[in-house]
Amino acid sequence: MLDTSDRTAAREPIETASRDEIVALQLSRLRATVRLAYDKVPHYRRAFEQAGVHPDDLRSLDDLRCFPFTSKNDLRANYPFGMFAVPREQVARIHASSGTTGKPTVVGYTRADIKTWAGVVARSIRAVGGRPSDIFHITHGYGLFTGGLGVHYGAEHLGCTVVPISGGQTPRQVQLISDFRPDIIIGTPSYMLAIADEFERQGLDPRRSSLRIVMCGAEPWTVAMRHEIEQRFGANAFDLYGLSEIIGPGVACECAENKDGLHIWEDHFFPEIIDPATGEKLPDGQPGELVLTTLTKEAMPIIRYRTRDLTRLLPGTARTMRRIQKIAGRTDDMLIIRGVNVFPGQIEELLLKEPMLSPHYVLEVSRRDHLDVLEVVVEARPGASARDEAARQACAGRLAHAVKAYVGVTVRVRMAEAGEVERSVGKANRVIDMRPRT
Ligand code: DLL
Repeated sequence: MLDTSDRTAAREPIETASRDEIVALQLSRLRATVRLAYDKVPHYRRAFEQAGVHPDDLRSLDDLRCFPFTSKNDLRANYPFGMFAVPREQVARIHASSGTTGKPTVVGYTRADIKTWAGVVARSIRAVGGRPSDIFHITHGYGLFTGGLGVHYGAEHLGCTVVPISGGQTPRQVQLISDFRPDIIIGTPSYMLAIADEFERQGLDPRRSSLRIVMCGAEPWTVAMRHEIEQRFGANAFDLYGLSEIIGPGVACECAENKDGLHIWEDHFFPEIIDPATGEKLPDGQPGELVLTTLTKEAMPIIRYRTRDLTRLLPGTARTMRRIQKIAGRTDDMLIIRGVNVFPGQIEELLLKEPMLSPHYVLEVSRRDHLDVLEVVVEARPGASARDEAARQACAGRLAHAVKAYVGVTVRVRMAEAGEVERSVGKANRVIDMRPRT
């Protein structure tokens, strides 16, 4: 039974198990998963054979480093159902991510997988202080995207009253928040800001709403963005991480005790950090690319999936399970501007230090005279000396200077008019790359 007497005390026993217990559980589950993948999925049998490894070689968790990685391309090459380890009739649900090019990546779940998924999402909601009696407002899209349905099943599993509004219809979101008085809201951080803006447009103060917890995920967001969201809503904002290939939302989550990293639910997902250039496994604490292996998935076990997400592994705190640091960015979102690596988050962090600037921004990359040009297009906050051109120019100059000093790249800053930067309902598109493809 869970102790729900105190909002910060409720944990499943496994959340505070000793490291030895966790490691023993992981090893037995990992061996079963690697065996399942090898026996049932031709792709894995081939990949293991090519790498000269066999499931029997896995004697310790560290032996996993000898097994080959799985990438999005492997999922595409086995489109649509080639990665399934169970007969299709046992697959209770399909999700898919569209991606920007080519075929979508398809993922499948057995009934047991859906239960596991609901369990890890429920655990995440509880970790941030959500309780069975809460009203839970879901703005993530429902459909093939894992956000809506994944969070929905988890919130129901916990016993919340779920409002499945999905994304869009922002004025209606505000009306339902005002009328239904939810305790918790979930969505992408960029969409949370669109909702806060809509409150204000209607002459309402989001700080006076019933919301006390804002859960955000599905896209990178900075600590500065968290402060912005917390201030606008007068609520606590927490980071929830996940990806469809592994399960969906609910792979890792922050907890109410501290917001310093996201606990990975290590009884279901095994994390490693690698050097993205060499593929070499790095020790805990070192920054690199997160690689995840499922430990309990039946329909689609995944071995060493290269997430492309950049972070590092940290020890457990309020829970024994290790944490990942807030995702710094994706390897494929990294811009290389005249040889300097730039992540949108670095610029976001700096622009939110300027009181005049809003969090609505986009990075436009073009090429002039064979040189890359990076333009930061950012809206001023409504009313923030909007008409004072000199103040706007000074602010743009300060931001360009800060980016040069902290990121090492020369940028142009263009102050956009209110509403000019496209608002997203789901994942924000922070980069418009207009450089000719070579
Ligand atoms: O975005 C699952 C999800 C839904 C997570 C709702 C949280 C909330 P995909 O569409 O497969 O799945 O996209 C996965 O999104 O590899 C990261 O690059 C990014 N991402 C997800 N959560 C976070 C987060 C869902 N908290 C990809 N911080 C991942 C940063 C995140 N990036």
